[in-house]
Amino acid sequence: MGQTILVTGGAGYIGSHTCVELLNAGHTIVCVDNLSNSSPVAIERVQELTGKEIAFHEIDLLDAAGLDGVFAGRRIDAVIHFAGLKAVGEGQAQPLRYYQNNVTGTLVLLDCMKRHGVTDIVFSSSATVYGRAPAPLREDAPIGAEGVYGRTKEMIERILQDLAAAEPNWRIVLLRYFNPVGAHESGRIGEDPRGIPNNLVPYIMQVAVGRLDKIRVFGNDYDTKDGTGVRDYIHVLDLASGHLAALESLPKLKGCRAFNLGTGTGYSVLEMLGAAERAVGKTLAHEVVDRRPGDLAVSYADPTRAKTELNWTAKKTLDDMCQDSWRWQSQNPSGYE
Ligand code: NAD
Ligand code: UFG
Repeated sequence: MGQTILVTGGAGYIGSHTCVELLNAGHTIVCVDNLSNSSPVAIERVQELTGKEIAFHEIDLLDAAGLDGVFAGRRIDAVIHFAGLKAVGEGQAQPLRYYQNNVTGTLVLLDCMKRHGVTDIVFSSSATVYGRAPAPLREDAPIGAEGVYGRTKEMIERILQDLAAAEPNWRIVLLRYFNPVGAHESGRIGEDPRGIPNNLVPYIMQVAVGRLDKIRVFGNDYDTKDGTGVRDYIHVLDLASGHLAALESLPKLKGCRAFNLGTGTGYSVLEMLGAAERAVGKTLAHEVVDRRPGDLAVSYADPTRAKTELNWTAKKTLDDMCQDSWRWQSQNPSGYE
């Protein structure tokens, strides 16, 4: 039966794709986003794709009174909490802003949920909480994020675990995403980073569309199949369906449980570049430069727990990811602008 889901950060990259899946599954969405890293056009396009309305509120999570108004006078069944700042380098340079936005923002949200009797939440965590633990990463691997951004995720995970331990009526899912890429197959919504992209696939796609010169491969002397970094890239629609599976699991859930959302397969930077060239239909200029400080050689999930307990697996291939990213980028060369 359709539920009413409060989606924080629903105008963002992963949030907008998850909204499409939620609406298509018959749920009603109330969305809160301050648009600090997103465009209202994303919400319009989600409505256009699904033919359904979203109750959108341009509100900052730090605005407790504003948030209270969103909860007041309606029944909310569960929250999916995407809202957060996520740029690793920016987090190192602006720790107070990152801790305030991500950690305090979550505390304000949880407090508001509690006051309104809403105790089901799915939280966007990250594989970055595993720090340098070796792949394949299982959910019971030791946690220890290295940077500010990762530590905001680790702190929020701990807050949620403590909350579930103290107040057994809470049901909490921590989703640890690996590397989300790709776009909706319509080409209408996708990832639209501000400024020069930090992440590999948006960077490649901006080279392909002529906005950037050439791809810089950050090191080819890692101990990997071809010397370049290996990651578990996951299609954003597979990630979106993981959120539906998490929501469905809530009624049976006791307390707080973490799940990896990854494919379980790692691909190198050069393999990703090859798949992008196949999708785009031309060779893309690249050069090998120094390693990027802080990067891991290899990171990929053991996705067994999500398969066993959520009945979820990722289905889309590396070629699907690149074809869909390219459709989005080529149809929207300047993103939502
Ligand atoms: P995004 O920046 O596209 O989306 C986040 C959204 O949250 C944006 O629309 C932004 O405007 C909003 N937001 C930020 N702070 C807010 C605040 N204080 N109040 C209200 N809205 C606020 O990022 P995304 O890639 O869609 O990521 C979604 C979530 O998943 C984030 O929490 C991110 O840390 C996490 N995550 C992302 C990745 C990734 O590689 N994309 C990997 C692991 C985890
Ligand atoms: N890379 C390049 N050139 C680029 C960008 C990236 O060669 O221009 C390489 C990186 O060295 C890495 C791979 O491509 O080997 C993927 O890099 P991304 O920046 O796309 O992704 P990361 O795995 O570094 O980062 C992701 C998330 C972060 C999270 C981090 C740690 O984007 O939010 O994983 O888990 F913190």
